[in-house]
Amino acid sequence: MESTIVPKMNLTKSLLAFVVIVWVSAACQRALPGVTLHQYAPQKSAVSASSMVVTPHALATRAGLEVLEQGGNAVDASIAVHFAMAVVFPRAGNLGGGGFMVIRLKNGETDALDYREKAPATAHRDMYLDSLGNVIKGLSTDGHLAAGTPGTVAGLIAAHQKYGKLDFKKLLAPAIRLAEAGFPVSGAEADRLNSFQSAFRKFNTPPNPFLRENWKAGDILVQKELARTLRLIQDKGKSGFYSGETAREIVAEMQSGGGMVTLDDLKKYEAKWRKPLTGRYKEYKIISMPPSSSGGVALLQLLEMVEPYPLSQWGFQSKEAVHLMAEASRRVYADRSQYLGDSDFFPVPMDSLLNERYLLKRMADFNPAKATSSEAVGAGNFKVALESFETEHTSVVDAEGNAVSVTTTLNSNYGCKVWVDGAGFFLNNEMDDFSVKPGVPNQFGLVGAEANAIQPYKRMLSSMTPTIVEKNGNLFMVLGTPGGSTIITTVFQVFINVAEFGMDLEKAVNSGRFHHQWLPDLIMTERGAFNPATRSVLESMGHRFQEVDRIAVIKAILKLPDGRLNGVGDFRNPDDDARGN
Ligand code: DON
Repeated sequence: MESTIVPKMNLTKSLLAFVVIVWVSAACQRALPGVTLHQYAPQKSAVSASSMVVTPHALATRAGLEVLEQGGNAVDASIAVHFAMAVVFPRAGNLGGGGFMVIRLKNGETDALDYREKAPATAHRDMYLDSLGNVIKGLSTDGHLAAGTPGTVAGLIAAHQKYGKLDFKKLLAPAIRLAEAGFPVSGAEADRLNSFQSAFRKFNTPPNPFLRENWKAGDILVQKELARTLRLIQDKGKSGFYSGETAREIVAEMQSGGGMVTLDDLKKYEAKWRKPLTGRYKEYKIISMPPSSSGGVALLQLLEMVEPYPLSQWGFQSKEAVHLMAEASRRVYADRSQYLGDSDFFPVPMDSLLNERYLLKRMADFNPAKATSSEAVGAGNFKVALESFETEHTSVVDAEGNAVSVTTTLNSNYGCKVWVDGAGFFLNNEMDDFSVKPGVPNQFGLVGAEANAIQPYKRMLSSMTPTIVEKNGNLFMVLGTPGGSTIITTVFQVFINVAEFGMDLEKAVNSGRFHHQWLPDLIMTERGAFNPATRSVLESMGHRFQEVDRIAVIKAILKLPDGRLNGVGDFRNPDDDARGN
């Protein structure tokens, strides 16, 4: 018996081995040497005594770690991540978009870099309206006319010039490698690529590496044109993108589809260093992004408004806490729509908006037992001297304690869906973040007015909220997220989850979220992740609810009491990845 069983087992084993070999060699044909799907299986949480990188993609995290290992600092690492994201996370990582970087050095000094896209010179207030003054559907979101002048490359170069330690060329090396050799796309990316094929075809013609049916996890994406552009940037710095071949390719692409960006727009683009916005919440200091993002102002307003109330006593998703936070959000987003825009063009009344007495007054009509109607709330009233999906966030802390929080975007998935022929990257559709007509909601349902009206060279208002938090003077937390209008309330809630509800970082990131943005007048909740008892009480108080699949995708780092760093990527993006070294 035994002698027959043994060969049988061997046969089974051999068969199994054969199947494995066939499967592996098929996978190897798809996955190039050096990068396999298995190798970049994402890791959602990590603890390290030295440095930490959290990004939306494991290959980008590794690019950051590689640079840290070569002696780079957190700024160098975030730049390397950014370039790598342009390759491995094409739906939001970018060369053709823009973003914001908030920095806290180990000595406590802070800085903020604005490399948001700008409206081109020929852009004008009514450019997305028809002759009757109505918004032309899709014009600010799809195709060439939706693109603003990209800021990313100028931003990364400016960040490196001021804070970089490693040779700039080294920061592009991982991205160039990944673009040239290719990498296996994840299941999540394959799904997106499949769902946008018809949009890609509408605005692009073959050959184009993204035009392909039936993407599957593990399929290799090689981007030769992008590799060439990255090499030009590596060799020539800013002029590798904003003048010469790349600039000519962008302009040719624009001209082929009625876009606005010209050689002169590109030549004139500059990233801008700004004073970070800071505020206090109990023993915490919040360091965040000023305009052209609304993120920092809104976050500080929210915190100031809820500080007098016993949130920790009420507890997570209690009716009192949700009601208070939703009512504060209602008022903050009403102010956003009226007063927030690019401060280089509109006198954003920062002092008034962040004034403690103003914010207390703003909450004076807060009724603990009843929802206020958004119609009744409106924007706060004070005088202004008059003369506005898919994004990615990276949090990095290096071994010396320098911290970087950076959020960048093309706005929608793959931006306006236009891929620059020859140069190999997608362009943003950030023009939709302007208020294209007062009171008419953009793709995130946000409304705006004069403050965020379109003007040549102006930056469109953002909600991106890259944030760093100190506790008692020491680095405590680095966080940020994609999510359009929900970015602000998500950063707010994840911080409150830690600071008031005593959650560890994983729980704080992965717990259910809600969102209120004044208009529409409802509380958005994540399907199946909101306390039903709280919901019915709040409905009886006059709140309306809408369920959505997910709200934002946090990437955060928390300094633990023993000094180690805990990095956490969100379960909501299967590719989010946290790693230390
Ligand atoms: O700047 C903004 O606020 C938007 N363009 C961000 C877009 C976004 O987060 C889309 N992602 N989910």
